Amino acid sequence: MARILITSAIPYINGIKHLGNLVGSQLPADLFARFCRARGDEVMFICATDEHGTPAELAAAKAGKPVEDYCAEMHEVQKELAAGFRLSFDHFGRSSSQRNHRLTQHFAGVLANNGLIREVSEKQVYSIDDKRFLPDRYIEGTCPNCGYTSARGDQCDNCTKQLDPTDLINPHSTVSGSTNLEVRETKHLYLMQRTLRDKLEAWIDSKTDWPILTTSIAKKWLNDGDGLQDRGITRDLYWGIPVKHGDQPWPGMEGKVFYVWFDAPIEYIAGTAEWADAHGLDNAAWERWWRTDKGASDVTYYQFMGKDNVPFHTLSFPATILGSGEPWKLVDYLKSFNYLNYDGGQFSTSRGRGVFMDQALSILPSDYWRWWLLSHAPESSDAEFTWENFQASVNKDLADVLGNLVSRVTKFARAKFGETIPAGGSFGAQETALIADLGTRIKDYEGYMAAMEVRKAAAELRGIWVVGNEYLQSAAPWTVVKTDPEQAQAMIRLAINLIRIYAILSQPFIPDASATMMSALNSTDWTWPNNISEAIRALPVDHGFAVPENLFRKITDEERAEWQVKFSGIRT
Ligand code: MF3
Ligand code: ZN
Repeated sequence: MARILITSAIPYINGIKHLGNLVGSQLPADLFARFCRARGDEVMFICATDEHGTPAELAAAKAGKPVEDYCAEMHEVQKELAAGFRLSFDHFGRSSSQRNHRLTQHFAGVLANNGLIREVSEKQVYSIDDKRFLPDRYIEGTCPNCGYTSARGDQCDNCTKQLDPTDLINPHSTVSGSTNLEVRETKHLYLMQRTLRDKLEAWIDSKTDWPILTTSIAKKWLNDGDGLQDRGITRDLYWGIPVKHGDQPWPGMEGKVFYVWFDAPIEYIAGTAEWADAHGLDNAAWERWWRTDKGASDVTYYQFMGKDNVPFHTLSFPATILGSGEPWKLVDYLKSFNYLNYDGGQFSTSRGRGVFMDQALSILPSDYWRWWLLSHAPESSDAEFTWENFQASVNKDLADVLGNLVSRVTKFARAKFGETIPAGGSFGAQETALIADLGTRIKDYEGYMAAMEVRKAAAELRGIWVVGNEYLQSAAPWTVVKTDPEQAQAMIRLAINLIRIYAILSQPFIPDASATMMSALNSTDWTWPNNISEAIRALPVDHGFAVPENLFRKITDEERAEWQVKFSGIRT
């Protein structure tokens, strides 16, 4: 039994995520977690909400709520949606937890003790009326270059000129509109990543089995331009983890918080500690996943994320871990994804373009979405969601191939032989050939799943469903029953057992349908079919079963057209 630690990039707290976000991290991580558990591994699967930073503060202000309340509410919303998509986290934590406060402050303290933190003095715009420093993009004014009146402090969107906030004519705060601004001197902590460059490079070079997408992004950041830069890890904000040196105050840093990208990945660890707390367990329970001196040396750690997150997970977070000099677990395998586009353009949270998690569940059950998203995961390149493709995939793969097999077999069996597995006949050449074919295909499927080749795994699973259908087409128990009822019974005995194997193999992709199949078969035996000739006989003669409710319904052309219009723009 292997020990597998899995984390998904933690979603930002501000707003409900769209399907492109889902398929880029949480959903494939869930697929992998379910697969590992199904084969008997000990799995720890952690996710959380990423709650700090200016976007969270501004979203709360827009909602007219204190940021603490806003985050608490949005955490519950996201947690519920995750449950709706059957994301099987062992814990869905919060980066604002006390556990994360303490761990983040701990890491900053040890990094400073190791001489890896320096103080830098900067000039920054302060809004006197808002009583806060303003990040560049929250300052607007007139562009000195083209006269555009809504140029931001970092760039003019009209002429694309890079700007400094002090370049703007008539600058104002986008938080309040106030023009009562001044430039103030402020001190920040920098993590000296340059000092760690060689260590990071050696570590990345040792990861010869990583996907090219992952290592090429890491290498680019390591070597581009001046190479790896030291990075500011503090901000002048209210909402965040207060800057402390371990549990001691940090002189000169009063009123400042850690930068959201410093504390967010630490939440992977803190989230596991939250899991232990939630179950009344002691520190040893979570440390055996994370501390190589406390049992984690036999853990294999997998991370899942979109490609935009790769630099933070190959450089910044490892810099925190390596720089600490403490025996924390580093990632062993990093699976990254390209983007999913939406119907000829991009998903857009700000414009409400595309399908968001809550909307998806309001029109169809999660299995439909899980199947389409995973079988079209943006692995080797960006992928595109279209309603035509979604409809075709659901109607063909789920309804025609899998759903139809299950209902046809169980209904026929009930009609001809009653609701128990019939005893007659024995397996002949066709059955033997099918069993051998399934054995090979299941091994291939396992191989793709273990390698996190999501699309290939989905294609193989579909292939496994298809060969079952082809067998039934050619064996045709519905015809054979008229001339050789004993032989038809053997075919049905095989087919009902095949449904159980399908339930087990399909469970990581479509857990609800699998549960329906398994309970119709009156079984709780989810043993992975390592031995196909045993598995195909697992449900014995006389075992009772029922005809399940229809597993999947088809999407009509009218629905497809309606949804296409409904999700084309502005979310209300
Ligand atoms: N919230 C970030 C995003 O959605 C991901 C943070 S992942 C972590 O892009 F490493 F910081 F945890
Ligand atoms: Zn301009």
